[in-house]
Amino acid sequence: MKPIQVGLLGIGVVGAGTFNVLKRNQEEIQRRAGRGIEITMVADLDVARAQSIVGEGVTVVNDARAIIANPDIDIVIELIGGYGIAKTLVMEAIAAGKHVVTANKALLAVHGTEIFAAASAKGVMVAFEAAVAGGIPIIKALREGLTANRIQWIAGIINGTTNFILSEMRDKGLDFCVVLKEAQRLGYAETDPTFDIQGVDAAHKATIMSAIAFGIPVQFDKAYVEGITQLGAGDIKYAEQLGYRIKLLGITKRRPEGIELRVHPCLIPAKRLIANVEGAMNAVMVQGDAVGTTLYYGKGAGAEPTASAVIADLVDITRLHTVDAANRVPHLAFQPHTFDKAMGNLPVLPMGDVVTSYYLRLRVADEAGVLAKVTGILAAVNISIDAVLQREADEVGGEPGAAAVPQTDLIILTHDCTESKMNEALAMMQSLPTVLQPIVRIRKEELA
Ligand code: HSE
Repeated sequence: MKPIQVGLLGIGVVGAGTFNVLKRNQEEIQRRAGRGIEITMVADLDVARAQSIVGEGVTVVNDARAIIANPDIDIVIELIGGYGIAKTLVMEAIAAGKHVVTANKALLAVHGTEIFAAASAKGVMVAFEAAVAGGIPIIKALREGLTANRIQWIAGIINGTTNFILSEMRDKGLDFCVVLKEAQRLGYAETDPTFDIQGVDAAHKATIMSAIAFGIPVQFDKAYVEGITQLGAGDIKYAEQLGYRIKLLGITKRRPEGIELRVHPCLIPAKRLIANVEGAMNAVMVQGDAVGTTLYYGKGAGAEPTASAVIADLVDITRLHTVDAANRVPHLAFQPHTFDKAMGNLPVLPMGDVVTSYYLRLRVADEAGVLAKVTGILAAVNISIDAVLQREADEVGGEPGAAAVPQTDLIILTHDCTESKMNEALAMMQSLPTVLQPIVRIRKEELA
């Protein structure tokens, strides 16, 4: 049978990785897919560079629309990124009847509903394994492997840049800004790291997983997003002393009233496997009612790990493109017409309604009655305390208290309460004259 023909839009690091892996493993991939898969056209603004990567046998153009217009092309891979021209080209490729493979999490988290609806109407597939956690086949696991389960929650380290920074902060006792500069020098962080360090990239990925896990539309605008820029080395050390690690987690949880969807730094017990995921690695925990807890670990970025996911999608499409569209795996795991019913009606909960436990650090005047006032406020709003620790700031490498007023750090772990209740307590505690600095609040998850 004639090989399936693929057009590649954008040949950067992942595009080159995809081309190389497809070529290197073509024999085995063909045996799995049932026919050959060939990238026959590439579109890139730098035609000379692109041609030097793919060699003479592949047509390189600087106009992506030449690929979309070519009737011989069956699948278009979009590796341009962003919501601008990438969205236009994906919509045009769908309209032209091409299947699409994309690694573009931002595009799908924000415009997924429109894109999947257009693809379903046209009877084509949009595949996106590479959009979440790079080489880890988490979309396949959620959408197919765990299809028997009512998923209860997902918690993932789904941004390698921030995990690298947090690992370095913990290992070397350094503050965020110092480690970020080093990460940029080593190429672990982008020159503009905003999307990574502010949690936006992780929120795009969590949004996609949430939709697949719970049968709701993608709703990035409802996600709570908080990055790691405010974290200090002192809090990482205090957490360690309490038996916890701090990780940036993407979390989505089913509750009777709705779905939690949030990204923020989080204390997790150091004994959990996921707490020991270090450097730029990714890991995703999924809790299903039948299977229990499962954990998926691997490289979340990079040329060949991401190519591994892109090519898995090419093979899936090659196997399924002759299948009646109604019998294919739905884009978001659930049949689209069920989105208006049952789970589809469950709202994404506002952050105030999220329930979790907390780590609080208060820099206070070291004098009689301060602890009683703080714990009195928590008692007044019915927040139960799990543990209290008092440390001199310089014991953990923080700046020592000013000489004029003896100071100390109070660290409090609470039991579960709603975020709105915690906000109420924080406002009251912050207004105490003996609380000398902004209170640090980090959410805590046991992941049990
Ligand atoms: N910038 C991402 C990360 C990889 O650091 O994990 C692509 O989503």
